[in-house]
Amino acid sequence: MYNLVYKSVANSLTSAQVDEILTESRNFNGKHDITGCLIYHDGFFVQYLEGDAEIVMALFEKIRVDTRHYEVILLSQGNIYSREFDTWSMAYLSDKLPNEAFQYIKLMVSPEFEIPDMSVIPNPTSKRFWLAAKNLLNKIGHDNFN
Ligand SMILES: Cc1cc2nc3c(=O)[nH]c(=O)nc-3n(C[C@H](O)[C@H](O)[C@H](O)COP(=O)(O)O)c2cc1C
Repeated sequence: MYNLVYKSVANSLTSAQVDEILTESRNFNGKHDITGCLIYHDGFFVQYLEGDAEIVMALFEKIRVDTRHYEVILLSQGNIYSREFDTWSMAYLSDKLPNEAFQYIKLMVSPEFEIPDMSVIPNPTSKRFWLAAKNLLNKIGHDNFN
């Protein structure tokens, strides 16, 4: 099982365009056993992808060149023991993030975070962050976010 996290800057998107990304993603991911979480906050995307390594990497290559965002930067990638988002073909979090989460997202999207040696291995801090995101999704329920 493989996990990849990147950040990017969104091109100005309408909510319909974001919905379209989610529909497309859930359709493809559902068919290819990819799960994960997309965060859209303050004009930035942060996406957590997990699944078969080859499929995840091939998908990332497609996402990387998508013109709906730019400055796509890999934050971490590596093997994981089990999925975090096993019931979500692509969970989505935007405005409903808890306050604590914003600091961490700011850190993730800030240029200072781009330390090449740090960027490869999923680390305990980021694991905590994604666990918090998952707990939040569980609280909100699956009706609006799947
Ligand atoms: C922020 C962002 C996240 C995306 N996430 C996914 C995803 O999880 N799965 C997916 O299939 N496509 C995702 N896409 C869409 C892909 O970039 C691409 O449009 C899609 O894979 C269709 O590519 P194709 O027409 O070459 O098959 C995402 C796009 C953006 C901008």
